[in-house]
Amino acid sequence: MRTDTPQTIYRKDYTPPAYLVDTVELGFDLDPETTIVASRLTMRRNPDSTEAGIELYGQNLKLVALRMNGATLREGDYRISSNVLRISKAPDQVTLEIETLTSPAQNTTLNGLYVSNGNFFTQCEAEGFRCITYFPDRPDVMAKYTVMLRADKQKYPVLLSNGNLVEAGDLPDGRHYAKWEDPFKKPSYLFALVAARLVCQEETFKLMDGRDALLQVWVEDGNLDKTDYAMQSLKNSIRWDEERFGLELDLDRFMIVAVSDFNMGAMENKGLNIFNTKFVLANSRVATDVDYAGIEAVVGHEYFHNWTGNRVTCRDWFQLSLKEGLTVFRDQEFSADMIGTDSGRAVTRIEQVRTLRQAQFPEDAGPMAHPVRPDSFVEINNFYTVTVYEKGAEVVRMYQTLLGRDGFRKGMDLYFKRHDEQAVECDDFRAAMADANGRDLAQFERWYSQAGTPVLTASGKYDARWLTFELTLSQSCPATPGQPDKLPFHIPVAVGLLGADGKDLPLTVGGKQHGGTAVLELTEASQVFRFTGVKEEPTPSILRDFSAPVVLNYPYTDDELLHLFSHDSDPVNRWEAGQRLAMERLLKLTAASAHGSKQELDDTFIEAMRKILVDESLDAAFRENALLLPSETMVAEQMEVVDPQAIHRARQFMRRVIGERLRADLHAQYDANLTPGDYSPDAISAGKRGLKNIALAYLSAAPDEHSDALARRQFDEAGNMTDRVAALVSLIHSESAGAALALEKFYDEFDNEALVIDKWFAMQAAAPGTDVAMVRSLMRHPAFTLKNPNRARSLLFNFANGNPAQFHAPDGSGYAYWAEQVMALDKLNPQVAARLARSMDRWRRYSPALQAQMKTALQKVAGAPKLSNDVTEVITKALSN
Ligand code: TRP
Ligand code: ZN
Repeated sequence: MRTDTPQTIYRKDYTPPAYLVDTVELGFDLDPETTIVASRLTMRRNPDSTEAGIELYGQNLKLVALRMNGATLREGDYRISSNVLRISKAPDQVTLEIETLTSPAQNTTLNGLYVSNGNFFTQCEAEGFRCITYFPDRPDVMAKYTVMLRADKQKYPVLLSNGNLVEAGDLPDGRHYAKWEDPFKKPSYLFALVAARLVCQEETFKLMDGRDALLQVWVEDGNLDKTDYAMQSLKNSIRWDEERFGLELDLDRFMIVAVSDFNMGAMENKGLNIFNTKFVLANSRVATDVDYAGIEAVVGHEYFHNWTGNRVTCRDWFQLSLKEGLTVFRDQEFSADMIGTDSGRAVTRIEQVRTLRQAQFPEDAGPMAHPVRPDSFVEINNFYTVTVYEKGAEVVRMYQTLLGRDGFRKGMDLYFKRHDEQAVECDDFRAAMADANGRDLAQFERWYSQAGTPVLTASGKYDARWLTFELTLSQSCPATPGQPDKLPFHIPVAVGLLGADGKDLPLTVGGKQHGGTAVLELTEASQVFRFTGVKEEPTPSILRDFSAPVVLNYPYTDDELLHLFSHDSDPVNRWEAGQRLAMERLLKLTAASAHGSKQELDDTFIEAMRKILVDESLDAAFRENALLLPSETMVAEQMEVVDPQAIHRARQFMRRVIGERLRADLHAQYDANLTPGDYSPDAISAGKRGLKNIALAYLSAAPDEHSDALARRQFDEAGNMTDRVAALVSLIHSESAGAALALEKFYDEFDNEALVIDKWFAMQAAAPGTDVAMVRSLMRHPAFTLKNPNRARSLLFNFANGNPAQFHAPDGSGYAYWAEQVMALDKLNPQVAARLARSMDRWRRYSPALQAQMKTALQKVAGAPKLSNDVTEVITKALSN
């Protein structure tokens, strides 16, 4: 929350802490209205610091007592101003004793100590610990924690914190206690406690070195039928990290706790991961294939943080991608390895590319653009972004592409050898990768320091006489806020050359032989790569497996794209060729629609789609992805002046024509990809459901009696949530007469399942027929609340980000609504409000009329009284960049 005028914090201003903390003892007397927190810190002067005094941070706390080495400090001995408590004179060795009060029940921010459904939880990353007690709350202060929890035994039978349980017992007045000890040093952002009425699924698991670990998944009573997949994912994660990276669980006990009020996906607190229920609870009745995949990825992600984040942590928050980019990369590799097949891997890669284009490229081109390692911020919570996470993961992936899997592993090993139990920088990770492999990675640093999506421009020249193919690669990078000029990046460009038969030609480049794919390293603004012994004019397949997070420009002809779409041995580029074919057409159709001229879709494209649809040698999941058109947001990113309604009409037209023209084949594939029998979330089954359901979506986009009946039948007979949701979406989008009744039935059947009711709101928010007035009326539904982030996101975010044609209504009503909701949310939860505020990032790309309305809405929010730092930063940047 904003206390003074927002201040910008700069990476260059980093100084080491004046005092280090060796041990922390915390005592909690938990009560929703007033919780008493007693802390005892043993501290010593940091030899690496030149500063004198002790600096503690604290926010929304009532200080009751402060003692230094046994003596009470009075005002004057210390000073508190704007959330900092300073003790200017202190000896080299200090024991501080601090008593503070907080009010968890009043805490709607879900940051610090808060109450959810009557239970206590904490969220300390990034700077929530200072809302619990005064502390040098910065990640380079690492200490050993002992925690005593005391609470009413009836109301809070379960008392959890980090590490191992060392003591528990009863107290007078119906209270009880539990004492926890974390054997490892940690930064304060990894502290956690839970005091709650919960139940758990547990089991012991044999670790690599033979030790037994106790694994627990804690949920509210009534949800134990939804914990199996999270538990299985946890066991898979532990095994995978042992096998792939030689990293073992370092605790005897590992707990996952699910909470329904949570700002993000989950949190990697040492030994006590706290999760949004969305990423824990699943069974076939309530969760979709996408939900299952999300659980596997997030359970893995948080578990992998135990080494990449917790054992080796960040020196300061500018280094956030050190742990997040690396850990996302690790969870991506985990999910891919769990599928196991090359084609399954490729589908996960395609999904990653889609996320980057859908969310990260726009961020990198907008007012909040920042490097993977930012140079400044106002509110760190605003920098848990797709750039830090997903682009950060791409940067880590490029090391693996450049060094190979073994080289990457060597780099990881050296990183842990050098930095275990330290707080370090992104540069330290890069140095470990370079040193372990004897490679110069100095230029690679620019991936951390320069924002913006590089543009890779390629052109090819075949010489039939000398049998050479010259590939010219050039790079540039657009200006971003604060960075007008960019230097060349070190870009790995994976290239293959296809012959006329569609097979990979053998490659020799620079005298070196490769298999079907060569990884070229572009380091200059422009370079020519000469392939020799090329027996025929090839079709180049550039940026295979999406080897770098860049935009590729190559003057592909339709014929070349069709060739790649039919034959490329690299599934990612094969998919990419189809996306290019579709995008070209979507842009033309959008222009035609805007000018009111006739829309037409060529047979060539439709036949190419048909070929993929019916090719049973391809995985169902790949075919589903190949049939999925670029989103309206992606089309918008390609336009100078975005016309949301024209884009929507164009994409709908294309979907309808595909549905009409491929009707028989779609029906056949629908039937061929049924998954009778018990539900299983495995990749093959999920792929079949995906293909079947995209077939249904196309059929519903060209509705006739058959397709409507098909959707209704699927809705009525679905044996799992994936099929049920797909059917309902089809009914809603085709404005079927059965849609209203289906929505009602869906609600009634699942009104006890909060996560399913979130879907109910989300589906309606994103439906093309839902306008601002309908969203407002959904907000008046008794099940709606702004206080629960999942619920707020399900309606508001899905409307603002997932329903562009309605959100950007020409009368500006969507923007006025957005402004109201940002301001309302900000009073409750600034972190969530600031995320909604980001929906206006790209406002300068719309028509002057829409821009004017958007600016008015932005200014309205900017002028609101008592705006949080979080929202202020987002709005200020939108208005000034
Ligand atoms: N470190 C968490 C993760 O990536 C992210 C997170 C969870 C978070 N809760 C948060 C970040 C609250 C900021 C605020 O897994
Ligand atoms: Zn993370």
